[in-house]
Amino acid sequence: MRIFNSIHSLRGAIKILKSRKKRIGFVPTMGALHRGHGSLFLRSRRENDITVVSIFVNPKQFGLREDFDAYPRPEKSDILLAKKEMVDIIFYPSENEMYRTGFLTSVQVDTISQILCGKSRPGHFRGVTTVVNKLLNIVAPDVLYLGQKDTQQAVLIKRMIADLNIPVTVRICPIVRERDGLALSSRNCYLSARQRLEAPILYRALQNAKQKALEGEHRSLHLGRFIRSTIARQSSGKIDYIACVDADTLAPLRRLRGKIMIALAVKFGKTRLIDNIVFSL
Ligand code: PAJ
Repeated sequence: MRIFNSIHSLRGAIKILKSRKKRIGFVPTMGALHRGHGSLFLRSRRENDITVVSIFVNPKQFGLREDFDAYPRPEKSDILLAKKEMVDIIFYPSENEMYRTGFLTSVQVDTISQILCGKSRPGHFRGVTTVVNKLLNIVAPDVLYLGQKDTQQAVLIKRMIADLNIPVTVRICPIVRERDGLALSSRNCYLSARQRLEAPILYRALQNAKQKALEGEHRSLHLGRFIRSTIARQSSGKIDYIACVDADTLAPLRRLRGKIMIALAVKFGKTRLIDNIVFSL
């Protein structure tokens, strides 16, 4: 496994790989790697000759009062995990390498960046699309791997890639969960023991709502209320949003039909967790 800190040297290596007709899979991450990231690495390894992983805690996607400074940066164990997963190349740039003095540009996907998570995290998705655009320009992969866990992020990035004609194929990989259903996240380590015990209620509530929908309850309002009361009764979580939307476009649905996603964000203390479930009617 090779580790690059500079854009210039990574580009040199990519150029050689491309001249040898190697197919490149790319997984962008912010590190604190877990089995969720690992599932993306594995899929990329299976489908490509070379897997590139970036580790960069991107300051531009954190709000002023968010956890940029506290975000875990376990460099050694990240590199070990990537090695174990047989990643070929790690791109590990510094903040200065990515955002040189004088940096002024941003990439924004309109409207769908302002809803759901974008409502409570203004500027977050602009930071995400800006850095992913840069990373795609640097790595120039054939295939980009993203997780369904951050589903709004995936929809926005797909939109950006289509709108800006970026020559890359996108694959979305399923959510990897703990045995009790909690979606793996680099932020789960912030949870207290009690919050950790309560947090699986999010997925249980989503599963129960899906069941209700399959049994004939197609009114979003009622499903939302049902999830809200389940979470309120069984945990200390404070709900940011619960939404029933079209899984491909994120358009809100008053009545469920087609391919549906129920998505939610809930705060346990200062820790904001997101989760979602996708199904068809
Ligand atoms: P990060 O939170 O590190 O996630 C990197 C990728 O791993 C994302 O595509 C995310 O959806 C996926 N992922 C996270 N948890 C997962 C799980 N439990 N199961 C499956 N996939 C999971 O998302 C980011 O970083 C950043 O916003 C980034 C795209 C790197 C831009 O900075």
